[in-house]
Amino acid sequence: MAATRTFSIIKPDATRRNLTGAVTKMLEDAGLRVVASKRIRMTEDQAKKFYEVHAERPFYGELVDFMTSGPVVVQVLEGEDAVKRNRDVMGATNPADAEEGTIRKAFAESIEANSVHGSDSDENAATEIAFFFSDDEIVG
Ligand code: CMP
Repeated sequence: MAATRTFSIIKPDATRRNLTGAVTKMLEDAGLRVVASKRIRMTEDQAKKFYEVHAERPFYGELVDFMTSGPVVVQVLEGEDAVKRNRDVMGATNPADAEEGTIRKAFAESIEANSVHGSDSDENAATEIAFFFSDDEIVG
């Protein structure tokens, strides 16, 4: 099977605790390659637009506040079946449900401060990658 790409965010709870390297190692150990990466402070406009799909959910405002509360690391990951591979190593959204050996089990503080985001489909991966990266920033 050919390599595909997915989009990942290391969230403010993880950057605050200096876990960028530890999270990235778990991604790499799961067979994913970081082909683009940058540490940014998301603007309120960016966070609102990125999470627009959740605009009607009760947690939307807090989610935007949280995602702009500190630096994040946005990454493009490549590997075989990258979307699923990344979701498997991230674990369940709610760390209380996350399995042993997953990033959220190891590091997440709560359903909101859950350390990582990962695309949920190839189509959304392409949209999310294009939201933060131009083609010439993805270097393989
Ligand atoms: P993420 O994959 O980044 O996509 C949306 C985020 O909303 C999700 O991870 C969670 O961190 C966050 N979130 C906060 N509260 C909830 C909730 N009650 N249900 C689902 N997601 C939530």
